[in-house]
Amino acid sequence: MSRIRRSVLYMPGDSLKKITKATQLDVDSIVMDLEDGVALNNKQAGRETIVEAFNTLDFGRRERLVRINPFDSPFAQDDLDKTIGVKPDGYVIPKVESADDLQQVDTFLEQAEQANGWEVGSIKLLAIIETARGVFHLPQIVTASERLSALMFGSEDLAGDMGAIRTPEGMEILYARSAVVLAAAAYKLDAIDTVYPDFRDHEGLKRESLFAKQLGYCGKMAIHPGQVPIMNDVFVPTPEEIDYAQRLIAANDQHQSEGTGAFAFEGKMVDMPMIRSAQKVIQQATQAGILQA
Ligand code: COA
Ligand code: MG
Repeated sequence: MSRIRRSVLYMPGDSLKKITKATQLDVDSIVMDLEDGVALNNKQAGRETIVEAFNTLDFGRRERLVRINPFDSPFAQDDLDKTIGVKPDGYVIPKVESADDLQQVDTFLEQAEQANGWEVGSIKLLAIIETARGVFHLPQIVTASERLSALMFGSEDLAGDMGAIRTPEGMEILYARSAVVLAAAAYKLDAIDTVYPDFRDHEGLKRESLFAKQLGYCGKMAIHPGQVPIMNDVFVPTPEEIDYAQRLIAANDQHQSEGTGAFAFEGKMVDMPMIRSAQKVIQQATQAGILQA
């Protein structure tokens, strides 16, 4: 079964303290950052710290990801060269704007996998869509590489690129937020929502997480440990949703065996699309360990 990515926690790759802390949290994915979280004169120290973390820490079930710098910077190739030896579970690629941005990394990873006797395709890619061009070029990005496993939506860089004014409601980024989740759904990729920078505002984070879940996102990027339990809690079906899904599937099985397609359930018409969403709820609950496989 594929991994669950409800909470995806970032920390500066040059902070062994924060990476260590992350390995003690109930977090799904850990992103050791080499991009904006690390000062320009500390990139090399960041790469070395990440390698040390992989070699000395027990990450348990947590996904181990490294975010490199964008390819139009002088750092990206060194980020890959210096960290590939520890075989991260995946690389997070920022500011992806074209298929070519992913294909370059794909080629590098394939060569590294072959040279090391690792399974080809085993190192995943997660693409951050956070520029106007990235949103505009989604159709070529989602088909660029077999190892692409998730799209991440980055609202802050995008708003800057578009000249949009950020508001708490986020109407200015709604089109892009929807475009990203739609593209991900079309190619069975995970969609991970943007960061909530005001990390002390747990109410606001919960509200925004629920909205992202409503749009179809499976998780959210975190920047602080306090945000993680809220995401783990929101991005799983509620007991009420699970109960409803189970009853609906049972009623459907009954009607199917009697030769009925559409039927009425608790006063509403039910047909295949609702059954498919109910099955998705059960699948998510199983992935999260709430239901037995
Ligand atoms: N990952 C892991 N541990 C973290 C963390 C993170 N992202 N953010 C904070 N912590 C740790 C702190 O080290 C501290 O640990 P301690 O109690 O053992 O000393 C604890 O959690 C509480 O932190 P707090 O004091 O509330 O926050 P702070 O002032 O130390 O840090 C930030 C605030 C914003 C600098 C920090 O949360 C951070 O670095 N976030 C990630 C930034 C980043 O990676 N940005 C780029 C991607 S968008
Ligand atoms: Mg960014």
